[in-house]
Amino acid sequence: MKYFTLLSGFILSTFAGIRNVQAEEQDDHPILLLNEDSTFHFEILGGLGQALTGGGDISPILGAAKNVTPGDFDKFTNIFYRLANETKAQALKPSNAYDPINVRDTWFSAASYFRRADSFTHGDWEDPLINHLWEEMLSAFDKAISSLPVPGQRVKIPADNFTVEAIWYSAPSGGKRKKQPTLILGGGYDGAQEDMYHTIVTNALARGCNALTYEGPGQPTVRRNQSLGFIPNWERVLTPTIDWLLANKGAEVDTKRLALYGHSMGGYLAARAGAFEPRVKAILLNGGIFDVHESYLDQSPPVLIDLYKSGQKDAFDETAFSMLSNPNYTLKDAIGRIKVPAWIADAELEGFFLGQPQKVKDALGEKPSLHPFTGTAGYHCQAGVLQELNRAIFAWLHKTLG
Ligand SMILES: *[C@@H]1O[C@H](CO)[C@@H](O)[C@H](O)[C@H]1NC(C)=O
Ligand SMILES: *[C@@H]1O[C@H](CO)[C@@H](O)[C@H](O)[C@H]1NC(C)=O
Ligand SMILES: *[C@@H]1O[C@H](CO)[C@@H](O)[C@H](O)[C@H]1NC(C)=O
Ligand SMILES: *[C@@H]1O[C@H](CO)[C@@H](O)[C@H](O)[C@H]1NC(C)=O
Repeated sequence: MKYFTLLSGFILSTFAGIRNVQAEEQDDHPILLLNEDSTFHFEILGGLGQALTGGGDISPILGAAKNVTPGDFDKFTNIFYRLANETKAQALKPSNAYDPINVRDTWFSAASYFRRADSFTHGDWEDPLINHLWEEMLSAFDKAISSLPVPGQRVKIPADNFTVEAIWYSAPSGGKRKKQPTLILGGGYDGAQEDMYHTIVTNALARGCNALTYEGPGQPTVRRNQSLGFIPNWERVLTPTIDWLLANKGAEVDTKRLALYGHSMGGYLAARAGAFEPRVKAILLNGGIFDVHESYLDQSPPVLIDLYKSGQKDAFDETAFSMLSNPNYTLKDAIGRIKVPAWIADAELEGFFLGQPQKVKDALGEKPSLHPFTGTAGYHCQAGVLQELNRAIFAWLHKTLG
């Protein structure tokens, strides 16, 4: 295994909010450990969570979990790659492909397994496997959303000098052309908008809301297709996205009930961009992140800080490096502009961003509602408790926007 792959894994695990890379004790976890490597534990748990909304079957994921060796990133990739291939073969069988429900479930599962396979490949962006897995993933996912009752629509939104990658999902209106509440959903460092379908979109659609997921510079498809790293001034991504939404889907969007959600490091991105966007009527941050750079320096072990300070870019995932080395990922100057109600998730087992939700709450004064997630719900971004997460989100939106 390559050194930088390991480091990349470390960066991922820190973003995933897990405190150590290897061999934590079962006692440190509120649930059954799925791998002694807590990075793998978290990733497998995320995969299981997506099974709840059609992104996998339980036993194949647990079967994969049984076979991955702690710390062996290549093996992790291979096992999920094989599972994705096998599931894709099922989807392609004519005896299954006659039925839109088979098509949807099987391709959603294959797409989800391709994303798990991609999780620990980012140490070397020259590795062709990264693009190969992603093309497979996008193709599988697009087949799945095309067989939804109202097909999802992949859109490319021009921004100043890049293209936002987005997917639009109309609420099933039952024949009524009525304006519906709408969620704009953004991910963080390494989660894809296709993950967001399973995390929030299915729940939004079931409750009669529209959803738009989007990715900007640094995020999976934009990083791969346009070779662009993160930018701190995320309003450059959000504003053209909302322009597109209102110009193209205005007939379906209830503009008084337009909410913005940021997942993981997207908690920073959404707060920053939302501060410049008067069209957004409520902001949800999971979790709240006041300053990315500061939390990084606070939480990382000395060996990584030394490496980072010495500027050894190659040893880091360069995407992570360029973002973490930039002090401008802070809400310091922007947060005062947020005038709408805000909901902030505060996860008890958060590693990387521990303490940041409270800082965001304090800076916002009276407006925010801080929602603690504890015990088995305490992992970063509520991995494994997506029902509880969605209950909390939609109850707050109901109370706040009606
Ligand atoms: C998955 O299938 C591709 C062909 O599409 C093949 O090249 C690759 O080796 C397979 N990977 C695994 C782990 O089975
Ligand atoms: C982005 O990549 C996917 C998969 O490789 C491809 O299907 C799509 O056309 C690409 N889009 C652009 C704008 O390059
Ligand atoms: C895009 O434009 C911004 C200024 O608006 C500039 O800082 C950035 O370097 C440009 N990026 C590319 C890829 O051209
Ligand atoms: C941070 O922002 C300031 C002011 O906009 C700019 O001058 C500086 O170059 C930025 N730093 C980095 C590392 O991009």
